[in-house]
Amino acid sequence: MNANPTETSAFHTHQDHAGADADTAAMAELLELDAEVLQPYLVQLTSWLGELSDREPGHIVDLGSGTGTGALALTRHFTQAAVTALDLSPQLLHRLAKKASALGLADRVRGIQTDLNEGWPHLETSDLVWAAASLHHMAEPDRVLAGAFDNLRPGGLLAVTEMDFFPRFLPDDIGVGRPGLEARVHAALNPGPSVDWTEHLARAGFVLEAKRPFAVDLPAPLPPATGRYAQMCLQKLRSHLDGHLTADDMAALDAVIDSDGPHSILRRADLTVRTTRTTWAARRP
Ligand SMILES: C[S@@+](CC[C@H](N)C(=O)[O-])C[C@H]1O[C@@H](n2cnc3c(N)ncnc32)[C@H](O)[C@@H]1O
Repeated sequence: MNANPTETSAFHTHQDHAGADADTAAMAELLELDAEVLQPYLVQLTSWLGELSDREPGHIVDLGSGTGTGALALTRHFTQAAVTALDLSPQLLHRLAKKASALGLADRVRGIQTDLNEGWPHLETSDLVWAAASLHHMAEPDRVLAGAFDNLRPGGLLAVTEMDFFPRFLPDDIGVGRPGLEARVHAALNPGPSVDWTEHLARAGFVLEAKRPFAVDLPAPLPPATGRYAQMCLQKLRSHLDGHLTADDMAALDAVIDSDGPHSILRRADLTVRTTRTTWAARRP
């Protein structure tokens, strides 16, 4: 159920242990940069869920938590809540535990390593279940949604979020002899439509409260982490582009991705971040 081909490689390549560890470390860095750069959006999203909640959540479950972007944002916004973070990866959960400790939140954030394809672990009832950029990774998302329904109390909320398209960073005038390099990179990948979870939610018994796109549009100047975030995103896209761009565009893209060259994205002060993420907020009746 992987709707986004650009996410595939970080999870599903079968390599030796060193390669797999490097993949996980790269994924962790990308997730952490995403959390740092898109902090304003996370504040907006968690505030909106607060408005939709019928009472202050006491227990929240983060499905496919990764390094804890959602778990930590939720802990910050819902100051009375404990968060249970579920993820397949012990390495990512370890990073989450370290961050929670550093922030003085260790007593409110618990990580459980679990494969949600095998079903839900036994957990206390929750008030809010959050699944960001994770549901499409599951082999049988409908089973996972049914588990979320069973775990939530009546009136509890489920928030499913997916990225509509990979972020864009560059001004339009970038390209060798031809502006619009980044637009051509995205067009060449053509990921197709994302999954619409509306019917899946209804099948699991949920009542949809809202399906809301969040348009992220962060203007320059942005924090220094943005350059590295943009570089990692473009590197990921680059790995799927062989044979899909002209040689000139590939060379221009390589020059942008390169850490040291004069055209490196790490040196640009004019980066912006444009992306859209959609959240489905649904209630257990
Ligand atoms: C793209 S990451 C998103 C992480 C996090 N939710 C965020 O927004 O930063 C997807 C996460 O889903 C986890 N995942 C994928 N399949 C899973 C499964 N079967 N059971 C539990 N976690 C899974 C991965 O380990 C990864 O951390």
